[in-house]
Amino acid sequence: MGSREVMLVLLCMSSSCLGQAAQGRGSGAETQLISGNGLINLGRRWGSKSPLMHISVNMREITSLKSSFELRTLDPEGVVFYGDTKGGEAWFVLGLRGGVPEMQNGKGNSLSSVAGGPKLNDGKWHKVELHSDGLFVWLELDGTAALMLGLHTNPDSYLTGEMRLSLGGILGSELELMNSLQTEMDGCVRAGNWLNISAPWELGPNEVLHPCFDEIQKGSYFPGTGLALFNSSDFPANQMEDGGAEVKIQGHSLSWSGTVLSLKGSQDEAVLTITANPQTEELIVKFGTQKGSLKLGPHTLYLKLSSHEVQVELGQEQRSNLVDDTHDWVTMWNNGMQLAFGGVPDDSDSKWLEGCLSLIQVQGQDVDLDRALHQDSSISSHSCPFSP
Ligand SMILES: *[C@@H]1O[C@H](CO)[C@@H](O)[C@H](O)[C@H]1NC(C)=O
Ligand SMILES: *[C@@H]1O[C@H](CO)[C@@H](O)[C@H](O)[C@H]1NC(C)=O
Repeated sequence: MGSREVMLVLLCMSSSCLGQAAQGRGSGAETQLISGNGLINLGRRWGSKSPLMHISVNMREITSLKSSFELRTLDPEGVVFYGDTKGGEAWFVLGLRGGVPEMQNGKGNSLSSVAGGPKLNDGKWHKVELHSDGLFVWLELDGTAALMLGLHTNPDSYLTGEMRLSLGGILGSELELMNSLQTEMDGCVRAGNWLNISAPWELGPNEVLHPCFDEIQKGSYFPGTGLALFNSSDFPANQMEDGGAEVKIQGHSLSWSGTVLSLKGSQDEAVLTITANPQTEELIVKFGTQKGSLKLGPHTLYLKLSSHEVQVELGQEQRSNLVDDTHDWVTMWNNGMQLAFGGVPDDSDSKWLEGCLSLIQVQGQDVDLDRALHQDSSISSHSCPFSP
């Protein structure tokens, strides 16, 4: 055996070469197939650039250019459905923006986009129907015609070859939408009929299908397995005399368990943690070396961080003021600290939050968890299980 072959054998004993081989050979064995007709949660792995699931079909096998499904979401923005032909040369996207349906399509350099109709992100099931004659795409919502989009293509040239469809994201990460969309979608679809294709869809690599809650209500649901992380400098605090950083969190705190909020510098220990303990019905606030406790209840949690003090209120009656003058915390906040909801980053001793935060506001602005630096994939950013 020559030295080159020896090299090759040695290289192939390393895990990367084995990994490659397994991937190449096992793409059939490892692929998870799921039906397109069932109840599907469109939520996908956080940070993933690819859709939750996709399918490829030969255009010749397509007998119907009609798709219908039911959609339920509280998320204002995200991608529901994507389709393309010729490897992305001509594409179509259906998404929501501000809760309103939006269709975009492109072919080569020509792009078009249309939005309108009722807001769909009300947490109720809506029937959606798309059909195309190759020139136009029509969108019907709950049985009423809502939108139409021209394709501006020579249909014949696009009715051959492969058609790819995907749910919960777009295929081809370089695709430039006409109006860029936050693709993450916290929503569920059911009763899908996708161009009358009966073949199963492929789940994206490393994706798991999350269950859908029976009924939903507004909020962000943390199942106790991870957190959502922001940079505090994205919410600049007022550095004036009686300014500071303000956070407001709504929800029924008696049903919370674990760390609701934490604030820490990049390497340091958390400066501030707010943790709910349902056993003792206490909300424990730690700021530096100081500690305070409030009684959990159906009140809004309000927090104000000023230069050397944090003030935490739970309802009108309860307040805890803790002082730490080792730093100017408002300056630290504005320079960028890790602001986390649902846990403490890189701290194995902390307990992740289990519970629903109905509303999170920082500096008076609603916080959209889909805009986090990082979010654990288990979190439902815009929906909580319904609780009366
Ligand atoms: C849909 O597919 C079924 C078979 O899977 C076929 O019998 C039916 O005619 C198709 N419908 C349309 C409108 O193409
Ligand atoms: C947070 O923002 C600050 C200032 O904008 C920046 O210097 C820092 O790198 C950011 N940190 C992270 C983790 O993105």
